[in-house]
Amino acid sequence: DRVLVLAGGLSPEHEVSVHSGRSVAEALRRLDVEVQVADVDSTLLRRLAEDPPQVVFPVLHGSAGEDGAIREVLELVGAPYVGARPDACRLAYSKPAAKALLAARGVRVARGAALPKSAFHDLGAPALLERLAERLGLPLFVKPDRGGSAFGATPVTSLHDLSAALVSCFAYSDSALIEEQVQGTELAVGVVDTGEGPMALPPVEIVPDGGVYDYAARYTAGRTEFFCPARLDDDALEAATRVALTAHEVLGLRDLSRTDVIVGQDGQVAFLETNVAPGLTETSTFPMAAGAAGLDFAVVCRELAHQAYL
Ligand code: DAL
Ligand code: MG
Repeated sequence: DRVLVLAGGLSPEHEVSVHSGRSVAEALRRLDVEVQVADVDSTLLRRLAEDPPQVVFPVLHGSAGEDGAIREVLELVGAPYVGARPDACRLAYSKPAAKALLAARGVRVARGAALPKSAFHDLGAPALLERLAERLGLPLFVKPDRGGSAFGATPVTSLHDLSAALVSCFAYSDSALIEEQVQGTELAVGVVDTGEGPMALPPVEIVPDGGVYDYAARYTAGRTEFFCPARLDDDALEAATRVALTAHEVLGLRDLSRTDVIVGQDGQVAFLETNVAPGLTETSTFPMAAGAAGLDFAVVCRELAHQAYL
């Protein structure tokens, strides 16, 4: 096998992707798979044409990675690759679009409203924000409608803080998602399909030390406590697993994904989002969950790479 891992990328999640890519490359090399790692730059097309890998493993987070753009290029040159197709990526990467689809399937989603940057600069914005906050209730979450790793995402406990949160959000995206903050337990549920159909990994419970799963809490070892198995009853875990499998299916994903949910105090599972290129760093939940399921992460990577060109 000759695998080209794509890592780094053009998004704010560059550094995270470098770490995720390194995990995949090291895992594959441990199994004696020949691996090269490349970043996305103007030489990519030439490289794919002159030295075509057997399979590309895109481990790119955020824009131009999870939005399907690079996979569009891979389709164009006919390079087999791991993961979802461009159109499915585009759909999943838009949190409002993904939530609408899941809601239509009867899944509870965190209630929210999209606010384009242009509307924020409108004279009517303050009144609009007030009405939104009233409708959704405080506390809220403001996050880029398309993004990752909590960049530009801010919890908002008072109406005063809403504008500042929107300003940081618009640094990352032209549209903000203002969302209710569902109270409960946050779970990340990986889904992997190595040929026998999508299988959910055991949900990982996420307990950040400061209560907010921000960038530092995600990628600094020891800043977040992870529980796998999660400390919830079987019914809740099964419901969360069903939501992750439903998301993987209705979004039309392939190979791997990770769905993030909150199990509310009433036991109901609220869908937040699905990642088509879940973090695979040392502190990421996907490899953790694979290990808890008794899977060897390296073997999973090899199988995903292998089936991409079968
Ligand atoms: N966007 C990051 C990598 C994640 O959600 O895992
Ligand atoms: Mg995410």
